[in-house]
Amino acid sequence: MLNALQGKRIIVGVTGGIAAYKAPLLVRLLVKAGAEVTCAVTDHALQFVTELTLETVSGHRVYKELFDRSNPHSTEHISLKDWGDALVVAPATANIIGKIAHGIADDMLSTTVLACKAPILLAPAMNTGMWTADATRANLKTLRDRGVQTVGPGSGMLACGDSGDGRMSEPDEIVAAIDRILNAKKDLSGLRVLVTAGATRERLDPVRFLTNDSSGKMGFALAEAARDRGAEVTVVRGSVSAAEPGGVRIVPVESALDLYDAMMRECGAQDIIIQAAAVADYRFAEIKGEKMKKQPGSGRLTLELVENPDVAKAVGDKKRPGQILIGFAAETNRVIEHASEKLKAKNLDMIVANDVTQPGAGFNVDTNIAALITREGRTDLPLQTKRSLAEAILDRAAALYSSAD
Ligand code: PMT
Repeated sequence: MLNALQGKRIIVGVTGGIAAYKAPLLVRLLVKAGAEVTCAVTDHALQFVTELTLETVSGHRVYKELFDRSNPHSTEHISLKDWGDALVVAPATANIIGKIAHGIADDMLSTTVLACKAPILLAPAMNTGMWTADATRANLKTLRDRGVQTVGPGSGMLACGDSGDGRMSEPDEIVAAIDRILNAKKDLSGLRVLVTAGATRERLDPVRFLTNDSSGKMGFALAEAARDRGAEVTVVRGSVSAAEPGGVRIVPVESALDLYDAMMRECGAQDIIIQAAAVADYRFAEIKGEKMKKQPGSGRLTLELVENPDVAKAVGDKKRPGQILIGFAAETNRVIEHASEKLKAKNLDMIVANDVTQPGAGFNVDTNIAALITREGRTDLPLQTKRSLAEAILDRAAALYSSAD
């Protein structure tokens, strides 16, 4: 990361959450990467981190007041708006996210964000309940649709004692996200990339279904990375708990049969297809029209399942010359062997093998551990964020695409 941001100016907005204690480290890392940094803070942020600390690490005055008589600018409230090449708000509380989504500009940071034309990155940090609240979801969707980017949050222990989504991304991940925004490779420009994400739901009756733990995080990380690298991205997604990315076309599906129909419709037009969805291999033989009733005293219930179509194989059967097909394999034993069999059986160019028994890998976590397997060989990758694995997968996909006939 050394010198990656040389000559770039970054505005760091800090709001009032416990994760504000990491803001000085973020500023230090940005300065170390060569950036010039100025901080704009809310009153609440100064409850968690001091002005002097931010001033010392950034080497610039801290902007905090709308009507600051020592600010030489004639319109103080927007004096920072043209200064930065990027603006990052870290931590971004539910409150600032709501304000930005609704154009509320009542302090130095929110007026700066509203007037700023540079790319904006938010690093959300809040309690899981606030993060999953409908209002926060809707505000983030609005912002993402407007091109505002986000990094994180991750999941883990939160300051309130709860455990779940809402932890601010680590400062080095935020710097990497800024680097991606400002120094984005555009190697997928002009290409159409389709990603599948999330879990299928196989209905039993109007209130019950068979599903799995896929959150959509891996598929969405791939979609965001492909979008940032210039691709026109379609995401066919099943059931997800992660927030949908902006700037991509979303095709929602429920069951494996829906996924099959969507993929048969969409696959022909795509240059690269990456199938990260966790698809049920079986569905119920019969979907009941009414809620199934308990049979008292029966002690046991047998339900019949029938095989679902193998969607990736069907896409593989229709593969056209030059198209690149990538699958995932979530395995619990003989990982490489099983994944390699799937590579061949589904006519894939690459398969991403996950050993989902390893801590930090697989379903509903922010990181993954994978091996990339092609017909030529295999690369084992270390534990990393899903976004950084997505970049590695796209590096290989781009290379396969350019060497395909
Ligand atoms: O969503 P996250 O919480 O981030 O979790 C990510 C993940 C663990 C779901 C992801 O990394 C992953 O491994 N996805 C594939 C899971 C899976 O279903 O693997 P599989 O080995 O059963 O299937 C192999 C491939 O065939 C996959 O590309 C799958 O999309 C596809 N498939 C499987 C069955 C089926 N009937 N049709 C298919 O197309």
